[in-house]
Amino acid sequence: MKQRSQWGTRAGFILAAVGSAVGLGNIWRFPYVAYENGGGAFFIPYLFALLTAGIPILIMEFTIGHKYRGSAPLSFFRMGGKRAEWMGWWGIFVSFVISTYYAVIIAWAMKYTVYSFNMAWGSDTQSFLFGDVLKLAETPGDVGGFVPGVLLPLILVWAIAFIILFAGVKRGIELANRIFIPTLVVVFLLVVIRAVTLDGALLGLDAFFKPDLSKLANPTVWVAAYGHIFFSLSIAFAIMITYSSYLPKKSDITNNAFITGFANSAFELLAGIGIFAALGFMATQANVAVADVASAGVGLAFVVFPQIINEMPGMNGIFGALFFLSLVLAGLTSLISISETYIAGIADKFNISRSKSVIFTVGLAAIISTLFATRGGLFFLDVADYFINQFGVAAIGLVEVVLIAWFFRKVDVFERHANALSDIQIRSWWKICLGFITPLVLGYMMFGLIRTNVMKLHEQPDGSLGNYEGYSDAFILYGGWSVALFALAMGIIFTLFKWKQNTIEETDYVETKEDSL
Ligand code: ALA
Repeated sequence: MKQRSQWGTRAGFILAAVGSAVGLGNIWRFPYVAYENGGGAFFIPYLFALLTAGIPILIMEFTIGHKYRGSAPLSFFRMGGKRAEWMGWWGIFVSFVISTYYAVIIAWAMKYTVYSFNMAWGSDTQSFLFGDVLKLAETPGDVGGFVPGVLLPLILVWAIAFIILFAGVKRGIELANRIFIPTLVVVFLLVVIRAVTLDGALLGLDAFFKPDLSKLANPTVWVAAYGHIFFSLSIAFAIMITYSSYLPKKSDITNNAFITGFANSAFELLAGIGIFAALGFMATQANVAVADVASAGVGLAFVVFPQIINEMPGMNGIFGALFFLSLVLAGLTSLISISETYIAGIADKFNISRSKSVIFTVGLAAIISTLFATRGGLFFLDVADYFINQFGVAAIGLVEVVLIAWFFRKVDVFERHANALSDIQIRSWWKICLGFITPLVLGYMMFGLIRTNVMKLHEQPDGSLGNYEGYSDAFILYGGWSVALFALAMGIIFTLFKWKQNTIEETDYVETKEDSL
């Protein structure tokens, strides 16, 4: 009988779950999403999304992993046979796609950590990024050959991830998170403390926190909160089911979910404060409004931040290096959790050792991710990220809650399972969230997303309507839709393979009478 890996301690599990949740999304996505969607007022839809979808789904996924003790497909198979298994594979393939571009962003951040020391980007940080670093192709969709300056750090990122994952759950993932997460907190706190003591920081914080209550009447603000919470909490892409499957039998579930959820939000809030304080400083230096410098994603981290670092009154290099190191650490702990989903899934399904699965799956992800280290990489990354988030992560969230609550009717069974183990008892609010609120909000959101993308209703800079980011139809089709559909199709294909009988019976999981109720 194969011994299933286990976390060494409760703290180890929580650190790994927090490490997964706290990632690039917290640092470069959240601050801008909050700012754009009502500033201080955004905390209302944000908390609503956290408490009605984020934490309830986290509790559900922790329960599934803990109860069925398998990778996402195996856990779902044990829950509902092949009719449920495909959701696990779908999540795994979504994770697979995400890992291939997520690693590239970490590679850029590594490069920028080094660049920080002498501010190698010069005064035109935009030309430096697109021209010198990424050597960006002219047309979206052109691949245009490898960029060695990105390829090398990318290999380093995968090498680090590989070593950690190869070392196993306890001696690899847990140990790495025990080192990386406390380091990240210290490093990021230093960045935030420096940022809030800069000239003009208050201006930025004012822009970030000023509540625009009128925005609350706009459904897109609520949808933005829901959309953000899934990626940020690492739910609905197989991660949390996999991680909780390594919990010992006697483990708290609900309290762990609350700790993970609130720790992730606390980090996000901290990031919002740090980023906007720094933006306030920049706006003051340039004598413009905060709105003129606020941005997100690649532009924020690799164009605007280098400018901020240029303008700092002292210790510029150190500040820059600490900021980019935060991105590297936050990114790495998420990347390993994303990769663990397919390592566990393939090992379970094909009955191979963990080491073999790491070599095969991480190797394959690393090879495919080199597509994003080409001259056209940034465009591919942008469109894949958008489509896989909306029609991967959010879509799985919707399908998962609807099927579990309404088709498999497992909510009561899971409630009993979680309550028997946890300090905090879940009651009707949890069932109402999973059965009604989340399906309704996500269903509304998905309908809107499909409509916007199929009918090309994205607003363009000139006010007209068109595709996401104005990309061509062909590029949207093969860079976006086909990537999202690939994850779903592979999910279904992998479900068709047969399980080895001994895999199904192998672990200490036993179907009790209560399970079949
Ligand atoms: N939860 C991870 C992030 O926020 C994936 O980046």
